[in-house]
Amino acid sequence: MGLFTSPIKTLDDLFLHTLQDIYYAEQQIVKNLPTMAEKASNPELKAAFEHHLTETKNQVKRLEKVFEMHGKPAKGVTCPAIDGILTEAKELISDCGDKEVCDAAMLAAAQAVEHYEISRYGSLIAFASQLGRNECARVLQETLSEEKAADKKLSNIAETKVNRMAA
Ligand SMILES: [Fe+2]
Ligand SMILES: [Fe+2]
Repeated sequence: MGLFTSPIKTLDDLFLHTLQDIYYAEQQIVKNLPTMAEKASNPELKAAFEHHLTETKNQVKRLEKVFEMHGKPAKGVTCPAIDGILTEAKELISDCGDKEVCDAAMLAAAQAVEHYEISRYGSLIAFASQLGRNECARVLQETLSEEKAADKKLSNIAETKVNRMAA
């Protein structure tokens, strides 16, 4: 059975497992974003982290709505992928000796998180559509759009400010 708490036999099982995985991941992100916002020196980066924290808290609620629509209790399963990305980010930040380079490192780590989320939400929407759960797909699409916008905003801050300052 590996890492998973219940066997995954059908696409429906896989949809539920992925929903639980991202539910856990979003909660870990809510826990970690305040530290990143606190440590960010660049005001735009700090504001972007704070804004995305608000969005992420709402994404957790949105997932609870999807669980409800799916007729299952909201429950997370440990996601080793997000734990790995966040652990690596924390190690990198604590090793960083220069505040501008630290900003660049945190921004890059945050983009790794966004890309993970974009990948998971993309799959969830595809599964939901295949299963005929169009309303679930629509709600998940709202979050996917926010994740893509967050990623784009971070790229812009990196290119115009943070990476330049770090160089
Ligand atoms: Fe998210
Ligand atoms: Fe995100």
